[in-house]
Amino acid sequence: MRELSLHILDIVQNSVRADASMIIIDIEADFVKDYLTIRITDNGKGMDKETLKKVTDAFTTTRKTRKVGMGIPLFKMAAESSGGEFDISSKEGMGTVVKAGFKISSIDRVPLGEMEETMTTLISGSPEKDFIMNYRIVTEDEEREFNFDTREIKEEIEDIPIDDYEIVSTIRSYIKENIKATNGGLVL
Ligand SMILES: Nc1ncnc2c1ncn2[C@@H]1O[C@H](COP(=O)(O)OP(=O)(O)O)[C@@H](O)[C@H]1O
Ligand SMILES: [Mg+2]
Repeated sequence: MRELSLHILDIVQNSVRADASMIIIDIEADFVKDYLTIRITDNGKGMDKETLKKVTDAFTTTRKTRKVGMGIPLFKMAAESSGGEFDISSKEGMGTVVKAGFKISSIDRVPLGEMEETMTTLISGSPEKDFIMNYRIVTEDEEREFNFDTREIKEEIEDIPIDDYEIVSTIRSYIKENIKATNGGLVL
């Protein structure tokens, strides 16, 4: 995939299908360590040990009969080919955490892309669920953070549904502008 935001969309859609009611997306770009960490945490149904092993082993055990898709293996490969690390942990009935690390300066690191599109696609598709995004930039002289939480938006808009066209458009611009401001000229 050409953008990490599209990988994130795919990984969060797993959480949505796993009946999570809340999904947290943590994005931290540490320019001092030259390391970008993306973590997706859900409170969905989780996976048993056997399934967990299968989803990460996809490339080493490729078979034509593979029933599960390639979302997780592709995200893992994107991380590792940039010189980063990948980890997934899950507990049945508790939830799942997917963590991918990227070397920011690697020429093999895929750009972050449009997180406002990923977030609005998720919100429009599952307005009843809650999505939280914590976006953090660390530089030599400061740390900047932007936190987005659909629970806060829902409280503010009261009777208007969060998947209302105007609300979604406003959320899209809001996320885009805040990410830009948090980046402060740095490119991800
Ligand atoms: N967050 C999650 N919670 C529960 N099960 C998951 C989660 N993420 C992935 N899975 C399981 O792992 C499988 C593989 O996921 P993925 O590689 O994204 O492929 P696909 O979504 O196309 O099946 C899913 O079909 C699902 O069974
Ligand atoms: Mg998937």
